[in-house]
Amino acid sequence: MVRQITVIGAGTMGQGIAQVTSIHGISTRLCDVSAEALADASDRIEASVEKGIEKGKTPASARDQFRRCLTTSTDIEEACQESDFVIEAVPELLDLKASIFARVEQVVSSDAILATNTSSLPITDLASSLQHPQRFVGMHFFNPVPVMALVEVVRGAASSESTVEAAVSLAVALGKEPIVVQDSPGFATSRLGLVIGLEAIRMLEAGVASAEEIDKAMELGYRHPMGPLRLTDLVGLDVRLAIAEYLHQEIGEQFRPPQLLRQLVAEGHLGKKTGQGFHRWS
Ligand code: 3HC
Repeated sequence: MVRQITVIGAGTMGQGIAQVTSIHGISTRLCDVSAEALADASDRIEASVEKGIEKGKTPASARDQFRRCLTTSTDIEEACQESDFVIEAVPELLDLKASIFARVEQVVSSDAILATNTSSLPITDLASSLQHPQRFVGMHFFNPVPVMALVEVVRGAASSESTVEAAVSLAVALGKEPIVVQDSPGFATSRLGLVIGLEAIRMLEAGVASAEEIDKAMELGYRHPMGPLRLTDLVGLDVRLAIAEYLHQEIGEQFRPPQLLRQLVAEGHLGKKTGQGFHRWS
């Protein structure tokens, strides 16, 4: 039974994970270097909890659970030292993640589990610089975390069976459906999701159809809840570009980032979070 969780990184995914853990009554420390990001995250989590209650998806008791269980901190050591589970959700930079886990490992107890929410970076590489790589695992959540059922648990070469089981048990305790996959570039989800997302951008570049029409094609023709360009906007164009660059290097040409994706990211059009991506967001 997990007593206290630290979520590192108060961006979209960190917020969602902290929302889900706190409304399930687990003491949750949300940690970020930016106090402003933490204040913004608390407001957004509260709004999302209220939306869930309003829609009848979240019990009204979640409001009190979230207020009681969620605290924030800009001090990573202080935020982690009492926790038996740490989930990192910072930007997709291997060195940044590795440096965070090196600090976390100094303060957590010897049986604490360390998990990364990376979408694609190798779990085995991230674990390799740790003193106890057997306690390291991937726990890949999906956006929007309170709504999406899946957690992709990624087994690194050194992850122990009990670590994988702990990640699976936590996902179940949070009301999610876990799958366990081997550590392979892009795991199961990002690798497949990127193929469609990148091809949709190439089709837009080639003038095959408008963004609206390409999205409608998959929404109505294939019953995807959201077309691939709108989904890229939701995930963040910068996030998708980082994954594409990594998969291009690891797997091959089918993941080469389209020029239009690079251009939009360079212009700061990152999708929903900036108000403009392939679509305009209000
Ligand atoms: N808390 C709990 N439930 C909520 C909620 C909240 N804050 N907000 C909404 N919900 C529930 C609603 O009640 C509704 O449930 P129902 O379908 O059973 O009625 C459902 O969530 C949908 O909510 P809305 O009606 O507000 O919105 P839409 O119907 O427009 O759906 C969407 C929005 C869920 C985002 C949907 O378009 C969708 O599923 N899109 C695809 C999302 C996706 O593929 N995400 C994965 C991205 S990849 C990723 O994250 C990996 C990363 O590593 C990059």
